[in-house]
Amino acid sequence: MRPVADAPLRVFELRGAAAAEALDWLHVHAEVQGAIEDEAMVTVWLVGALPVLPHTGIEVRELPVDPDAPVATGLEHDVPILVASDLLVRPPWVARPEGFRGVELLVPRGGAFGSGEHGSTQAALRCLHAMWDAPPSFGDVGTGSGILALYAQVRGTQRLAACDIDAASVAAARELLPTAQVTLGGAETMPACAGLVANMTGTELTASMPAILRCWQRSHALVLSGMREHEVDAVGALVPHAVVHRETVGAFTSVGYRGTGVAR
Ligand SMILES: C[S@@+](CC[C@H](N)C(=O)[O-])C[C@H]1O[C@@H](n2cnc3c(N)ncnc32)[C@H](O)[C@@H]1O
Repeated sequence: MRPVADAPLRVFELRGAAAAEALDWLHVHAEVQGAIEDEAMVTVWLVGALPVLPHTGIEVRELPVDPDAPVATGLEHDVPILVASDLLVRPPWVARPEGFRGVELLVPRGGAFGSGEHGSTQAALRCLHAMWDAPPSFGDVGTGSGILALYAQVRGTQRLAACDIDAASVAAARELLPTAQVTLGGAETMPACAGLVANMTGTELTASMPAILRCWQRSHALVLSGMREHEVDAVGALVPHAVVHRETVGAFTSVGYRGTGVAR
């Protein structure tokens, strides 16, 4: 259950080996307003209470929030996010930077993961952008807000499919992409697609890989994102193709595989 939007901002310190994984989980299951990750701990700003974490061995400490003091959440300023020199993400209420002529994705900040700030989203977008080969159909596994499918739509792909196991994400993606086929569930709920992207944790990618590979028709590019450095090789070993492009943004890496170029 997501916290209500007008609940107060609270800040928590998470310590322990699984703190970074817990932050990934919170991005999906809570209203994360900002986070600072360092070697020893994660500090996270949430709207409302910290949900019960499924990870073990995490020490949680709530920090006081001074409502009168400016809070540096890192994400609270709605500004255009320049993902590449010619690729921009912004909420609709933020103006386009003067002179910008590239690809623009208008994504409102909402309850679903994927408004452009997260390194895994940016790594996925950078890889898609670098490898874009105009697939006739495009699938987005773990769509969140729908931002990656939106990229394909903006680049002209007509047939869009997306899925997410989180109902709030499915609702958000349907709102952003009214013509897309958005299903509640994993890659096994999607039709076969010429090009495909999946931005999920390494563990989620590993578990979903058989369904992801069944869904990908292999005519156009496949992009996998959301992996931390130590997960890249293990996930890559599940894909029987050569990586042709790789991007790393912050702690997250994406890899891209070329299709045959022959649409089915
Ligand atoms: C890191 S977010 C990515 C959101 C968005 N695609 C982006 O790039 O910003 C991962 C999303 O995958 C969803 N997810 C996790 N496991 C999944 C699975 N097995 N099948 C489909 N969606 C999944 C989560 O609910 C979450 O919305």
